[in-house]
Amino acid sequence: MSDTMELDLEGVLPKTGGSFEGEDVLITGGAGFLGSWLCEALVRSGARVTCFDNLSTGSRRHISGLLRSRNFKFLRGDVSRSVPGRSFDVIVHGASIPAPELYMKSPIETVRANGSGTEVVLELARKTDATVLLLSTSEVYGDATLIPTPESYVGRVDSLGPRACYYESKRYAETLCVSYFKEHSLDVRISRLFNSYGPRLDAGSGYSRVISRFIVQALEGRALTIHGDGNQTRSFCYVSDTVRALLSMLTRNVRGQTINVGSDTEISIAVLAGLVKRITGSESRITHESPRPDDPRRRHPDISKAKRLLGWSPSVRLEDGLARTTEWFRRELAQPDAERRKAGTRRVP
Ligand SMILES: NC(=O)c1ccc[n+]([C@@H]2O[C@H](COP(=O)([O-])OP(=O)(O)OC[C@H]3O[C@@H](n4cnc5c(N)ncnc54)[C@H](O)[C@@H]3O)[C@@H](O)[C@H]2O)c1
Repeated sequence: MSDTMELDLEGVLPKTGGSFEGEDVLITGGAGFLGSWLCEALVRSGARVTCFDNLSTGSRRHISGLLRSRNFKFLRGDVSRSVPGRSFDVIVHGASIPAPELYMKSPIETVRANGSGTEVVLELARKTDATVLLLSTSEVYGDATLIPTPESYVGRVDSLGPRACYYESKRYAETLCVSYFKEHSLDVRISRLFNSYGPRLDAGSGYSRVISRFIVQALEGRALTIHGDGNQTRSFCYVSDTVRALLSMLTRNVRGQTINVGSDTEISIAVLAGLVKRITGSESRITHESPRPDDPRRRHPDISKAKRLLGWSPSVRLEDGLARTTEWFRRELAQPDAERRKAGTRRVP
């Protein structure tokens, strides 16, 4: 783990308003980007963590530092079929396929991880009285017309559209959680995550997300590729802020609540590309490719509920988060090819 990541994690824990000492936690998708950060933070705060992942988009390398800890266990498996059959105090359900190119290629697997996977998790939680935190997504709002978007916005979605496999199955996962809350009084909490970024966000599989793709392209001196005109906007939240919000959702009394987690600073993809060029010191050109199907024009959360219920708001400015992420990628790109492949930082196509 890099020094930056150490510092980021140290900053997260004291601010989450509670302790996880002695808690038994299951994290599905724990070898992925957010999952591995959550595993690190929870082990450091005294929890016993079981990471359950099929390694379809995650990497063993993200959790390699934790494998030495007696409070950490990795189990490989597919959440849409089963989860470890024993009791946990808390289950964080993050297993999913969130990269658009990938979920559009594997829609059935995507629906299964979000749909059957959530059902499997909720059944285990019901039998063992665990608290469930679902990692849902801003995609449930579809191409939102209400900006900033509050949790009460019902969504502008298309059950047959190219992104439906992801957002409709996340909507179903949310509905399942709320149904278990109503019918079984199960303690469920739903986070709706807007774009989070930082070290470990996949950069090289061809399914990478925009910030890591831009940074790697810039560091390798290649053109930064924008899908469409670049006027589409996103709101990027640095990973340590995201992790702090998610842990706060477990320590605060927000049973049955759905909460937006994201940055309230909206930026266009074209401006982001310029910013990445400046921060990396790159001379790369910026080129445009055909727009992604069904790409939402704007993403900008209303985070007043998170502020009110969690006392949370993002603290890392985009420029600073990009600088930390760039530093991490510089180090990764200096690794031999085989190591980079394991971490998902091979050349971006
Ligand atoms: N990163 C973001 O900006 C963002 C935004 C919105 C929502 N989310 C949600 O947060 C969660 C984590 O996303 P991430 O960005 O870390 O993605 P990621 O791809 O890095 O992590 C997902 C993990 O789930 C695992 N996985 C996938 N299908 C599985 C299955 N059937 N069984 C077991 N494991 C499986 C993958 O191997 C991977 O380790 C996802 O549920 C995603 O939908 C993330």
